[in-house]
Amino acid sequence: MVIKLLTLASAALLLGACASQNGEDLLASGGVPTPACDTSHVTYAGTVAPILQQCSGCHGGSQPSAGFAVGSYAQVSTKAANGQLLGTLNHDAGYSPMPKGGAKLSDCDLAKLRQWVAAGAPNN
Ligand code: HEC
Repeated sequence: MVIKLLTLASAALLLGACASQNGEDLLASGGVPTPACDTSHVTYAGTVAPILQQCSGCHGGSQPSAGFAVGSYAQVSTKAANGQLLGTLNHDAGYSPMPKGGAKLSDCDLAKLRQWVAAGAPNN
């Protein structure tokens, strides 16, 4: 009888230990992890074009601002090569800051665009 009680007691202790262990695991993974900026798979079609899509309100349609249509790879790669794309987006001196009248792109989006330009602005 005593042995049976001890067994029950230790079983309860073990269960208790398990429960608190799980509680700690939940707490440890409870914080939302900050997603790192992944610049390792940057492509024109998969990364650059979707980012620049937000500019198409002005740089799209039949009369794009400054004659620059972000939907055209040929035009985007030309602006990448002559420095205007990053110059305007980084708000560098001598360039008209883009997006005009809006907030700068996120650091992560800028890092991806820089990565693409540094790779030679490939049509991939
Ligand atoms: C509200 C309209 C508007 C938005 C949004 C906008 N632009 Fe512009 N953009 C212009 C205008 C207008 C010009 C012409 C220069 C000026 O007036 O500042 C221009 C000029 C440029 C130029 C220089 C072109 C040249 O030939 O001199 C680049 C590059 C550019 N924009 C890129 C972008 C990118 C990339 C985005 C999106 C992140 C963007 N713009 C968003 C209106 C806009």
